[in-house]
Formats: sequence, structure tokens, C-alpha cells
Amino acid sequence: MQEIEQLLDKLKNDLTNAKSLFDVEQIKIKYLGRNGLVNGLFQKIGRLSDKERKEYGQKANLAKKEISFLIRKREEEIIKNKEKQTFIDITLPGKKYSRGSLHIVSYAVEEISRIFEKLGFIRLTYPEVEWEYFAFESLNMPKGHPARDDFETFFIDAPDSPRYGRMMLSPHTSSGQVREMLRVGQPPIRMISIGKCYRPNWDTTHTPMFHQFEALCVDKNINIVNLKATIDFFAKEFFGKDRQIRLRPHHFQFTEPSFEVDISCGVCGGKGEINGNKCRICKSGWLELAGAGMVHPNVLKEGKIDPEKYTGWAFAFGLERIMMMKEGLSLDDIRVMYSGDIRFLEQF
Ligand code: DAH
Repeated sequence: MQEIEQLLDKLKNDLTNAKSLFDVEQIKIKYLGRNGLVNGLFQKIGRLSDKERKEYGQKANLAKKEISFLIRKREEEIIKNKEKQTFIDITLPGKKYSRGSLHIVSYAVEEISRIFEKLGFIRLTYPEVEWEYFAFESLNMPKGHPARDDFETFFIDAPDSPRYGRMMLSPHTSSGQVREMLRVGQPPIRMISIGKCYRPNWDTTHTPMFHQFEALCVDKNINIVNLKATIDFFAKEFFGKDRQIRLRPHHFQFTEPSFEVDISCGVCGGKGEINGNKCRICKSGWLELAGAGMVHPNVLKEGKIDPEKYTGWAFAFGLERIMMMKEGLSLDDIRVMYSGDIRFLEQF
């Protein structure tokens, strides 16, 4: 009999120490489980005298009921307490999380895409790990051609393709030109391809990884006037209405004729001087902006487009470069964009 009393005391003690539903579950097993303490009480019945047996049995049955009841009661208490703890006081001041932002290059990509969208250009990206064929041969730069030296680049230690040559990191987005012609099949083509490019340079105006955006337009009767108007539209949208552009003759293997595009300096207003002193930014009134030209017939042929029927133009801008030229963003070292310095990044 005493044993039954002791068991109840022990249970009460266990239950007050139980802090979670898991603890209560353990107690349930300990007392009411098949090999539990309560069943242990009943097993003892066999060893008692007939007289004792009846009273003991009744007590043990009552004890079992009480034990079940106490366990359930403790369970409910714990559940109630839990509910109380999850109460949310909406009058408390909130936690302040610092606000994130996109990288300056991501903002530029969005802005550029939106400007070309207005002219009906489709935004794409082409592989940054590229075959030599698309970066050079398809662009009228056969193996061993000295024009390739301008794009000295990173080759990848991987098996060559019998058809496309070596694998490399694309040195320019022009690699996408013939890919786009092959993708579209027949003109019209209006592509704006924005992507990463790689060249082994590291100084205040170069990083080994940078971005370019390449515009390609191929259709019937496409000429230099369209090219100039498109660049002019872009320059005014991106830099401001008062900026002028000019085309300067140049040479690229994949365009004929070829140009370099300059934009009037935003600091001196294109005059090249401020109060009689040479402008520190441009020195001449103009800043070099992009490469451009009419797509070479050989390039159209590589893209399975008939150069007798169709003409096209292409140009490419360096994205970080034009960010550096944007007014109000006086960046004097391009490398800061990739330094990961939070003080720089959180300004945008
Ligand atoms: N791919 C050239 C470079 O990275 C730039 C360029 C020049 C792109 C003329 C063009 C173009 O599309 O027509 O220097």
C-alpha cells in the first residue's frame, strides 16, 4: 500500500519537473507503458494473500486512474503555457533590418535593357565560356590573324572542339552575333546582348572581368543613319539630352566600314576646357564610348544570311566604362566596383 502512495508522490515530482510535451511523453511511458511502473504494481498482486489482494487491487486501480489524470493535466498546462509565450505584442517597436540593394552593374543592366526595349530590341545573353569559332573565326578573324591580338584572352584547359576550336572566356559580346543570326534564322534581328567579358587587364580603367552590351540590327535597307540614330537615342536617354555623339573612322575585322563612337564630355560640355584650363576628364571635349560599324558580309554569311539581300549594323559598349562616365557618379577607379566594399555598394 505504501508503495502505491510512494509511486504517486514520485509521479507528482516528475510532473513538476517536466517542462515540455516530450518530457511528459517520457513520463507516460515510464508509468503507464507496458513495462511501466503501474503494471509493476499489478504484477505484485500474485504474491499477496487473498485478504490483502482485494484492497490492494482497488487501490492500484484508483492509482492508475489518478496517474493518467495527472499526466493529462500536466500536458494541458504545458500547451496553455506555450500559447501564452507565443503571444505577440504588436505595440512593441520592431527590429530594424538594414536595407539591401542591387549591385550598381545590375541597375545599369536594367536601365540599358529598358532603353533598348523602347526600340524593339530583344534582350539576351550568350555564353561567357565560349568557343574560339564564335569569338574569332565567325567574326572574320581567321586563325593567326593579328587582329586577334587585341583580344588576348583566357583559354580554358579543356578538349578542343573539332568544329569550333578552343574553349575560352569570351573577350567580347560580339561572339553572340553569329549565334543570334543562327538562332533567329532570317532577319529582322534586333538584339541587345548583355554579358560578362574577360581580358587580362588590371588598372584604373580595366578589370579582367567586365560587361559589354552588344546591339545587332539586321534587316532590309539598314544603313549608317539607323546606326547613328540608335546610338544617339541611347546616349541621350542614358546620359542626358544635351550630350552629342560622333562617329570616328576605325578598323574592326567584323564591320565594314567601322567606327569608334565618342560622346561629348559631360564635365566641360564638349568644349575641352573649363575657364581656360584643359578639362581633366576628356582633354579634348570628347570621350571614347563604343566600337561600331556595318556588319561585314563575311559575318552575315557565317550566320547564313544573304549579304546581297540584307545589311546590318552592330555596336558594343563597355558597361562599367559608361557607368564611370555618368554624370554625378565621379568614379575614378573602375576596380572599386568589384572590391566588395560595402561603403561603395550601399550608395546605390
Ligand atoms: N567587340 C569589339 C570590342 O570588344 C567592339 C565592337 C566593335 C563591337 C565594333 C561591335 C562592332 O559590334 O561593330 O572591342
